[in-house]
Amino acid sequence: MARIIAVANQKGGVGKTTTAINLSASLASANLNTLLVDCDPQSNASSGVGLGKDPDRNNTYKVLVGDCDAISALQPTALERLFVLPAHKNLVGVNFELVDANEREFRLRNALNTLREKFNFIVVDCPPALDLLTLNSLVAADSVLITMQAEYFALEGISELLDTIERIRGVLNPTLEIEGVLLTMFDERTNLAQQVTAELKRFFGEKVFSTTIPRNVRLAEAPSHGKPVLLYDEKSRGAESYLQLAKEIIARRMPGFVAFPEPETESTNGEEKRVVNASRWRGWRERNKLITMDLKG
Ligand SMILES: Nc1ncnc2c1ncn2[C@@H]1O[C@H](COP(=O)(O)OP(=O)(O)OP(=O)(O)O)[C@@H](O)[C@H]1O
Ligand SMILES: [Mg+2]
Repeated sequence: MARIIAVANQKGGVGKTTTAINLSASLASANLNTLLVDCDPQSNASSGVGLGKDPDRNNTYKVLVGDCDAISALQPTALERLFVLPAHKNLVGVNFELVDANEREFRLRNALNTLREKFNFIVVDCPPALDLLTLNSLVAADSVLITMQAEYFALEGISELLDTIERIRGVLNPTLEIEGVLLTMFDERTNLAQQVTAELKRFFGEKVFSTTIPRNVRLAEAPSHGKPVLLYDEKSRGAESYLQLAKEIIARRMPGFVAFPEPETESTNGEEKRVVNASRWRGWRERNKLITMDLKG
């Protein structure tokens, strides 16, 4: 049964989509069947895994208004085990068209429940608003992953998000958890980053992921090639950090499951460096490509 994780923060540009794409690609690379759900009319998660704009394709809008089944809207990606439920800009219409519809907050939950047994993880990319789309995502989700930048006002918008989560727990989804708080575009060298991290840890405690995502140009470039960073530059710090995040989540949610080969140390010119053993790494990648998933099964 899939664990459904919504990546949310109503603040714009804090790394939600980058995280949704690269976390789901990293989970898929660990041989876990993963679905990326694009629940943002900007459709950046869809284009980020290589899907062009196509208004006729089945998409999140059609699923939410009941024009098609969720399963018929899934698209394969370049990663064998990663599928995407794409969005189109018409998704914004859900916010007005479903205002008076019955069960309007449960549309995504009902749709994803039909897919739960086919996947290990379902990652939902939310828009930068506390609108009906984010509400649907939080009602469908088992947990919410909050992305944040280490800025001075980082915590300000968060209380509104936490209030929303509390209200959803009260009525619509009592078991909604916080998966964790992820610091993105992080520069550990600055004092500000250290201060904000300390404050976040006081506030969220254990919920702050030990993994942080550094600012890395490869992460910003990859979407213009329609690829997760793993397929664009797998050796980049960006790729490494999202693999680390996947590992942290897998260790917590699937104890005993060995996701990736452990890095080993190698000494070049007397300098110790952590590397991943090349042949094991290749084996891991090949295994991932060879195993196909039968969606109809
Ligand atoms: N770790 C990073 N290093 C460098 N650039 C990044 C990183 N994370 C995100 N970016 C870039 O920052 C911008 C915003 O990131 P992203 O689109 O993931 O945020 P978002 O929260 O999904 O935005 P929105 O609220 O508009 O949906 C993008 O141009 C993205 O490529
Ligand atoms: Mg986004």
